[in-house]
Amino acid sequence: MLTDRQLVDLARSMLDYAYAPYSHFPVGAALLCADGSVYTGCNVENAAYGSSLCAERTALVKAVSEGHREDWVKLAIVGQGNAPCWPCGACRQMLSEFHPQLPLLVARGDGSYVRTTLDQLLPHSFSPHSLSLEKE
Ligand code: THU
Repeated sequence: MLTDRQLVDLARSMLDYAYAPYSHFPVGAALLCADGSVYTGCNVENAAYGSSLCAERTALVKAVSEGHREDWVKLAIVGQGNAPCWPCGACRQMLSEFHPQLPLLVARGDGSYVRTTLDQLLPHSFSPHSLSLEKE
């Protein structure tokens, strides 16, 4: 099982693969699962800007499409800036679907990071549970 430091470093290595010719803001992510597997991601932008995909959602889609959606352990997110690269609202929402309390390692360009959890960043999220309550 990877250490937090190793997971952040893996996310950081994904900065090399980021395709960010429009924002010039590369982001890397690495999602650790319970069996030790890791799904990495980077942002992939598009000339039709709205079609761009964030690093976290790249990692999420890779994991879910390989059958890993209920065994997430933690997610590392890395940018190049001096501030931690906080996940955007869309990524918070999509991550929350599968693990509302997901531990996060949110890193700066120098590799230092802040530990938090998804529910701290997205409290009272709209979830699958919200849909079933609607029907009651
Ligand atoms: N970006 C991510 O990859 N993750 C986030 O949570 C924040 C934003 C990307 C999207 C876009 O390619 C670039 O950073 C600038 O917004």
